[in-house]
Amino acid sequence: MHDSPSTTNATSRRGFLKQTGAIAATGALAGVTLPHVFAAEDNTMQVAVMGPGGRGTGATANALRVETAPMKLVAMADVAENRLKSAYEGLKGQFGEKVDVPEERKFIGFDGYKKAMDCLRPGKDIAILTTPPAFRWVMFKYAIERGLHVFMEKPVSVDGPSARRMFELSDQADAKGLKVGVGLMIRHCKTRQGLFNRIRDGEIGEIIALRGYRMHGPVASAFSTRKPEGENELLYQIRRFHSFIWASGGCFNDYYIHNIDECCWMKNDWPVEVQASGGRHFRGDNVDQNFDNYSCEYTFKDGTKMFFYGRCMAGCHDEFASFAHGSKSLAVISSNSHWPSGARIYKGHKMTNSEIAWRSPKEGPELDPYQVEWQDLVNAIRNNTPYNEVKRGVQASLVATMGRKAAHTGQVITYDEMWNDTHELAPDLDKLTLNSPAPVLADANGRYPVPQPGVNKTREY
Ligand SMILES: NC(=O)c1ccc[n+]([C@@H]2O[C@H](COP(=O)([O-])OP(=O)(O)OC[C@H]3O[C@@H](n4cnc5c(N)ncnc54)[C@H](O)[C@@H]3O)[C@@H](O)[C@H]2O)c1
Repeated sequence: MHDSPSTTNATSRRGFLKQTGAIAATGALAGVTLPHVFAAEDNTMQVAVMGPGGRGTGATANALRVETAPMKLVAMADVAENRLKSAYEGLKGQFGEKVDVPEERKFIGFDGYKKAMDCLRPGKDIAILTTPPAFRWVMFKYAIERGLHVFMEKPVSVDGPSARRMFELSDQADAKGLKVGVGLMIRHCKTRQGLFNRIRDGEIGEIIALRGYRMHGPVASAFSTRKPEGENELLYQIRRFHSFIWASGGCFNDYYIHNIDECCWMKNDWPVEVQASGGRHFRGDNVDQNFDNYSCEYTFKDGTKMFFYGRCMAGCHDEFASFAHGSKSLAVISSNSHWPSGARIYKGHKMTNSEIAWRSPKEGPELDPYQVEWQDLVNAIRNNTPYNEVKRGVQASLVATMGRKAAHTGQVITYDEMWNDTHELAPDLDKLTLNSPAPVLADANGRYPVPQPGVNKTREY
């Protein structure tokens, strides 16, 4: 048994929250003191992006927009040439000379990340990890070996073994003094930070329940029809990564983590167990592994409940929001997607305009958290202040994973069980080549194994 990093570290987490809050609060606008190493010579900070798809292009754009340091993109790596090409063209058109990626620094293939990171300078530059989550530990490991600072997207793990591995890697990054940002960008939202402080100061009373919703029609690659004839099976699964639990943790981990994380943030704790249900209703010809609806009841160690509802179904009520119920009143943590948050506190539990006790504009306009998280990371590198969001990212990822596993197996899952879980969904991802077999195989009808709650009780498929 490994010691679970569950809820025993509330004190250190509070310290961390305080610290990240302080960094974020001074982030965008404050002047920075340049360490000698930057002041004396070329102070351009270079980045390389692994997986320049939708978010990789977005994160790179955020990096290049940072105002407190000259920034430059110098290398790119992807398994899909067309994705790299279109990302390069888009970024070059937008940022001109800040994009300095000649053909010899564009790398295609499963080992491309190493070559791209080899273009960066240890101790100075930043590797951007925006592939599907399954590859996070593989690339983080190499970035640490190379002494690079890192920005990585959420989720950072998809199962117990990858969560434990990321925790250990986080310690290795600290030992080398590396700074690591994790794309749970709403932790950098100043309005939510203000809300957190108000909840901590007792404005809504004791939290008695939290609710999170991510319910909308089918999105991204969570729904997939049969693999096109002739396409490489492994590349198909990576391209449709939300459809495959090994690659993304499924739509559960990849989408729901933000609402789950912001609820846990406001509670200032992580839940100790979860029970959940879900099912596949209108899947038509879809062959992926997801359920199209999930309902979860998480329990914190003081007995407080957190309810989460996820749905990918057309024609139903849509909601993308999180709430905290206190013994005195209600707080809205987010009201419509990630940003702007629409965070507010009501006088009681009735959600009418006349009942609003506090809302964000009183604390100034809400900055784009995707930009703020980058300014915070770069400032931490420049000022050499402690900055590592990985463990918190692992904990959020693990809490999402336990909800998913509870729904998929039909069992109550504890945080400690999930932490110690030995089912690695895709072992040896660091050894993949184009000829490797895909981690999950379809049956004769082209359908991949789907969870069967109550039948498969210990493994999801
Ligand atoms: N924080 C947020 O709000 C937010 C928003 C969107 C996406 N994301 C996260 O970003 C990540 C990527 O999501 P996306 O929507 O950009 O997906 P995407 O498919 O658009 O991009 C992923 C890219 O990675 C490439 N890739 C896959 N495996 C690779 C490998 N082994 N080596 C190199 N390249 C590889 C793909 O070819 C693709 O170009 C996911 O973890 C997702 O959860 C976060």
